[in-house]
Amino acid sequence: MNIALLGFGVVGSGVYEWCRDREDLNVTRVLVRSPKPAVADISTTDFNDIVTDPAIDIVAEVMGGLHPAYEYVTAAMKAGKHVVTANKALIAAYYTELTSLAREMGVGLLCTAAVGGGIPWLVNLARVRKLDAIERLGGIMNGTSNFIMDAMHAAPVSFPAILKEAQDLGYAEADPSADIDGDDIRRKLVISANIAFDAVLEEEDIPMFGIRTVTDSDIATFKAKGFTCKLLATAAAAEKGVCAYIEPTLVSADALEAAVPKNFNLITYEGVNMGRQSYYGQGAGQMPTAANVVQDCLTILGGERGFYTHNATPMALDGENEAHPYYVRTSAPDQWLEDNTAERWETGVVTGAVNTYEMLAWAKKQLTVDPALFIAGIA
Ligand SMILES: NC(=O)c1ccc[n+]([C@@H]2O[C@H](COP(=O)([O-])OP(=O)(O)OC[C@H]3O[C@@H](n4cnc5c(N)ncnc54)[C@H](OP(=O)(O)O)[C@@H]3O)[C@@H](O)[C@H]2O)c1
Repeated sequence: MNIALLGFGVVGSGVYEWCRDREDLNVTRVLVRSPKPAVADISTTDFNDIVTDPAIDIVAEVMGGLHPAYEYVTAAMKAGKHVVTANKALIAAYYTELTSLAREMGVGLLCTAAVGGGIPWLVNLARVRKLDAIERLGGIMNGTSNFIMDAMHAAPVSFPAILKEAQDLGYAEADPSADIDGDDIRRKLVISANIAFDAVLEEEDIPMFGIRTVTDSDIATFKAKGFTCKLLATAAAAEKGVCAYIEPTLVSADALEAAVPKNFNLITYEGVNMGRQSYYGQGAGQMPTAANVVQDCLTILGGERGFYTHNATPMALDGENEAHPYYVRTSAPDQWLEDNTAERWETGVVTGAVNTYEMLAWAKKQLTVDPALFIAGIA
């Protein structure tokens, strides 16, 4: 099959490398906006050269952003071309439209690299759910935030200092908000929940709390109590829809999640009959991420069409039955917190079991009076 790459950055050049010596997948065109000497002979700055070329079978969108990525992938599918993308923002934002278009045109639309980078998470999630019902999924889905939490547990270091180190090492972007506040994880959770539960969820409605306000004193307290703090995502089947949320979570120091080092990911589903299965690996990086893009091209070469799931419908967020204790550190007194406090730790309080959605809504409000507030669910 002939592939056109949209973008020739970290992932795009990795896809080119993977395909270079293959006979079944040929990169024949590359859309660039600045010169790329390695592919000068097949480069174009005009997308029309790609969409009107009948010899191109697959358009691999590896340029990122919503626009013009959205316009390009829709035009490609309308022209009868399969689309593979690594762009979680694009799929999360235009899920219904893009998957419907793929079905209507009878083309493939796959995005395995968008969730978990190099981990074959989405394909295995799609595979298991053909046989078993998924009860719950989630885990460590962002390498940057895990790098920060891991380093803060390894040696006393402040959040700003380790964030700067992550930026210097190229693990965190100049604007780290999407990684440390949960937005990046939320997009990955939307796509995962979509495949696991046939659910179309509103990304903005999923409650989240990030790690921006965690301190080295918080971490010292957690360690003294036998806990490790990780930023975890959760999506669970619920009576009236799906219960999805993102929050720092205290897991036992001997839990699998606690052992995940550096910028690695650990993503898990729990099937009714299969039980727990976890996927561990590089959630980003050139060759691992590009490998998932190329695997998707091979899947299409093998005859697969459409998206991973075909029946997704809009679903409500239902957090009614999700409750657990929380660690809370706030300098602003609050009666609701006082009423729910069960224990006092060195640096904060621990509540009894509190409804998750209620706590995350309270935390959002409390941040307006105490911007240094930190909360963590206790698993
Ligand atoms: N990097 C990872 O480990 C990773 C992991 C998982 C998913 N992803 C996803 O993969 C996608 C690509 O990421 P990346 O890390 O490869 O980004 P990148 O290194 O910044 O590469 C993006 C490339 O696309 C080009 N580009 C952007 N807009 C363009 C346009 N309108 N026309 C033509 N070319 C355009 C850029 O051109 P210039 O060189 O001229 O700027 C750049 O070469 C993103 O959606 C990202 O979320 C990346």
